[in-house]
Amino acid sequence: MKDFLDTADLSPNLVTELLDSAERFLPLTTVPEATRTRWQGKHLVTLFSEASTRTRTSFELAAKRLGLKVVNIVVGMSSLAKGETLRDTILTLDAMQPDVVVVRHAVAGVPHFMARFSRAHVINAGDGEHEHPTQALLDAFTLRRHFGRLAGLQIAILGDIRHSRVARSNVRLLAMMGAHVRLGGPRTLRAPGIEQFAAGWPGTVCVADTLRAAIADADAVMVLRIQQERLDGAFFPSLGEYFTHFGLTRERLAWAKPEAIVLHPGPINREVEIASDVADGVQSVIQTQVTHGVAVRMALLEWLLSQ
Ligand code: CP
Repeated sequence: MKDFLDTADLSPNLVTELLDSAERFLPLTTVPEATRTRWQGKHLVTLFSEASTRTRTSFELAAKRLGLKVVNIVVGMSSLAKGETLRDTILTLDAMQPDVVVVRHAVAGVPHFMARFSRAHVINAGDGEHEHPTQALLDAFTLRRHFGRLAGLQIAILGDIRHSRVARSNVRLLAMMGAHVRLGGPRTLRAPGIEQFAAGWPGTVCVADTLRAAIADADAVMVLRIQQERLDGAFFPSLGEYFTHFGLTRERLAWAKPEAIVLHPGPINREVEIASDVADGVQSVIQTQVTHGVAVRMALLEWLLSQ
């Protein structure tokens, strides 16, 4: 596999291999000199046309910890801003012979399109409302580290499913690994057809009729950000009312198993989709997810560069 574009690129064996490999990088201490020497001649370029704190920074830190050099392209200061096409942009980058290009774009399929013209490994860091496959890997890593397994877990995913690339990637990866996903939230933010992402895998996905049905006896509750930038001002009917009816509060979290954990890919809208005392509470693993993002991306970079 040259590129990492979709969770469809994965198999249960490869997920297990990548998650096992990521374990080697925790805690995030010094990487052995032999590893750094192996990758020190390699170069990674990030090309993000949408905002990011976690994904872009963790790719940079992951690459640097492995010994790669990193170049970050600021899209607004690149020739894309002067009308250069995506194809010409990737051909231009390719001519400079980077080893890995990490792409985030607001339009679904752009990393796939760029991969066709790139000799470098292309990694999808989030494409529109389609997929965010490295987020799903780090979420699976966090769940597996906590529970020791993925198979059989009951995972509630709540909120803005319709606009969420995180939801699509998680549904497929978790179903692939035998977990069971229940989607909850307002009807207006459901994603018709998302069940297809789980098709053919041992796990299941279902749309719960009520928030309580989604959360009931869950092992983990994953809350998604309300993606205001994709809502064109039209929203249920206000952010405050969303919190009243669908926000994850301590009272609603009590519907899950007592030992349930709370995940959120970030960034968080506090008091919109999640109460601050839940986001910062003892059941929250949100900051742990961020740490795990570096280890998982290190494992993915090593795996791709070894191909
Ligand atoms: N989870 C995630 O993709 O966060 P960023 O947008 O900060 O990268």
